[in-house]
Amino acid sequence: MAFSENTLQPVIGAAIPLTTLPPISPLILTMLALLAGALLYLYTPYWGVRRLPGPPTVPLVGHLPLLAKYGPDVFSVLAKRHGPIFRFHMGRQPIVIVADPELCREVGIKKFKDVSNRSIPSPISASPLHQKGLFFTRDTRWSIMRNSIISVYQPSHLSYLLPSMQTVIDSATLSLPSSEEEDITFSNLSLQLATDVIGKAAFGFDFGLSRPRSAAGSVHEGGHSDDQVSDFVKQHIYSTTALKMDLSGSFSIVLGLLVPILQEPFRQILRRIPGTTDWKVDQTNQKLSRRLDGIVAKRMKEKEPGSKDFLSLILRARESETVPKNAFTSDYISALAYEHLLAGSATTSFTLSSILYLVAEHPEVEKKLFREIDGFGPHDVTPTSHDLQHKFPYLDQVIKEAMRFYTVSPLVAREASREIELGGYHLPKGTWVWLAPGAIAKDPKHFPEPEKFCPERFDPDCDEEKQRHPYAHIPFGIGPRACIGKKFAIQEIKLSLIHLYRRYVFRHSPNMEKPLALDYGIVLNFKHGVKLRVIKRPCIHLVN
Ligand code: HEM
Repeated sequence: MAFSENTLQPVIGAAIPLTTLPPISPLILTMLALLAGALLYLYTPYWGVRRLPGPPTVPLVGHLPLLAKYGPDVFSVLAKRHGPIFRFHMGRQPIVIVADPELCREVGIKKFKDVSNRSIPSPISASPLHQKGLFFTRDTRWSIMRNSIISVYQPSHLSYLLPSMQTVIDSATLSLPSSEEEDITFSNLSLQLATDVIGKAAFGFDFGLSRPRSAAGSVHEGGHSDDQVSDFVKQHIYSTTALKMDLSGSFSIVLGLLVPILQEPFRQILRRIPGTTDWKVDQTNQKLSRRLDGIVAKRMKEKEPGSKDFLSLILRARESETVPKNAFTSDYISALAYEHLLAGSATTSFTLSSILYLVAEHPEVEKKLFREIDGFGPHDVTPTSHDLQHKFPYLDQVIKEAMRFYTVSPLVAREASREIELGGYHLPKGTWVWLAPGAIAKDPKHFPEPEKFCPERFDPDCDEEKQRHPYAHIPFGIGPRACIGKKFAIQEIKLSLIHLYRRYVFRHSPNMEKPLALDYGIVLNFKHGVKLRVIKRPCIHLVN
């Protein structure tokens, strides 16, 4: 077909000469350019992963409505529909979700050098307090930092930390208000306990949060009053729980999920407007930072050569010839210290509470557990680190099963620093690749009858345990970037449970919702807390 030189139409019919087209106004052109820019901005991240399966996306919000509908279970639901590797759009940002143990091994271990960093989700980018710790530092800085502090978590150091852990746990669990009619919100107590334990281990500092309340206005060992203590608890809890992954966070966090480019400018404006959530988060973070900076500055001045807490260790590492001088500037030290407080308290506390909750509704498990704990020896004998590791095999199974049942960190974040191949797909550099231990934990392929709480499935002699993929149960993550505090946390959880079960039996409060409602922040949290009734055990027998 022939075309006239000056027209867009074939010569047959009424062609309009180009020269006579009405001029497009600059305003319309600008709007079209902006629209094209916006579409390009919103859809560019999608392009690289478009070949992966995934549910249909809603413009702008992506799959966040699914997160609102199913909560943290959304990844199990989607894995069932789309297989072991699929796309999930957290607002604009696509994430490649990996819900298969072998693919997790590939990302976390085999391809570690290409996928060694974590992507920073919007709740964290809204919170500078959380950015300079081990979690979100990258590449060389991360490896220097991790190598400098790893020795704190070796077994020999853990046994050194046991007595101070024991003192905090003993005092916190000695006199719980026991009554068949009155509730305790155990999840609050466990957060205070876990914060105290990590406070001692990380800063050598006694927050005294979990100690039974002293008389009004009295001053604790650390030189702070009850008011300051409860203030600190409130700030810490607020800072821990305000970082939401769904659309219930502060305005700037929500914006960060939808249009990341606008997050920081809006945060900067909103944090100056009293009453907004961004303002409250900022105020809280500033207060917490000041408090932690104060502790760090004091410890820098005091320089106690013998102390072996985490902070002393970093301060000494700073002076070592082998560590670059700029690796541990004071902002990184404060961030690391706060990260420890955060990472070490919310996770451990959630796990402790969920164990008590689950055991309370499984009398057979409770009976076996009591038999093991009572059988260890007289109740005034404190187990050593070695005892904790080797003499409580059933307790081990209970902890593993509870961590499977309620996986506190259902997603483990990574980012590809080069183009990689995974599960048959090419993923471009910069792709967010998140492992889904929570979805694997509820996959009947690896855990038959996944909704059943059954510690026996982790018995080393049973077929289910022997046949399971070695990376099907990864509540502490995987590979060189796995949780640095795993052994510390297990030691603390075991010791706390032994103390608690030696003294009390726990029952569900009738005021607690069923099933437990969960909140999805940077880690899982209980929406309304775990409310229990505490019953003192009548007398302590040694059971053979
Ligand atoms: C039940 C308790 C805990 C659970 C379930 C837990 C879980 C996790 C998970 C899933 C990760 C990510 C791992 C990965 O990316 O492969 C992680 C990282 C981390 N955890 Fe824990 N954690 C717990 C307790 C602790 C404690 C007590 C501390 C500190 C004393 C701690 C400090 C950290 C740090 C610093 C990282 C970042 C490590 C790095 O990037 O090199 N965690 N944790």
